[in-house]
Amino acid sequence: MGKDVIIALDFDSREKVFSFLDQFQEEKPFVKIGMELYYAEGPDIVRAIKARGHKIFLDLKLHDIPNTVKKAMAVLSGLDVDMTNLHAAGTKAMMEAAIEGLTRPDGTRPLLIAVTQLTSTSQERMEADLLIHEPLDQVVMHYAQCAAQAHLDGVVCSPLEAGKVHEKCGKNFLTVTPGVRFADGEVGDQVRVTTPAKAKEIGSDYIVVGRPITKAEDPVAAYRRCVAEFVG
Ligand code: C5P
Repeated sequence: MGKDVIIALDFDSREKVFSFLDQFQEEKPFVKIGMELYYAEGPDIVRAIKARGHKIFLDLKLHDIPNTVKKAMAVLSGLDVDMTNLHAAGTKAMMEAAIEGLTRPDGTRPLLIAVTQLTSTSQERMEADLLIHEPLDQVVMHYAQCAAQAHLDGVVCSPLEAGKVHEKCGKNFLTVTPGVRFADGEVGDQVRVTTPAKAKEIGSDYIVVGRPITKAEDPVAAYRRCVAEFVG
């Protein structure tokens, strides 16, 4: 499994995305397309970025009845993305249906990653709004184990949880981790952050980095710094 840096393309139009990507002349970074860009520009933006030679993590976090998710995943698989995701809260039946939908006639499929509990959900809100009373970290580990049992490839989690996820679900079970900041950079609205070097040490497989690269004065230099620290 290759360790890699994934740039979060949190832009609201194709013009902004392309003027950002045009700065990368020598490398073709792995990129993440989230809901904002996908809903603004539709599936054509995925095809256009793919045609430029980038690997794509399509971050749409599906969560619906198994049959609907299966059919939606078949469409996403046809877009030739490299990684996509869903909410583990949709149950193992939904995750298994998703794998079926994603698998192409030739047996290949994009990597499928589960969101456990969103990092924006606190213990307090989980108990009051979701009526889940176990400790949050145990809920995250349980969801990760369910995802592994459903044969998903990994989870999105905090880099700080990556080591424990590997312990519980095996070292080949991928950890895709946002919440990464340079030691001398701004934290912004992220709460629990780590540097790319620390994420590597704890065992993240992929780091997802947005603003430290997209808002940098020199995004290419910031990307290279991330790669140097994380991949080595
Ligand atoms: O700009 P920043 O580096 O904070 O961007 C992180 C990216 O990862 C954003 O696209 C954000 O939506 C996503 N993400 C996150 N925390 C999660 C799940 C996804 O920051 N738990």
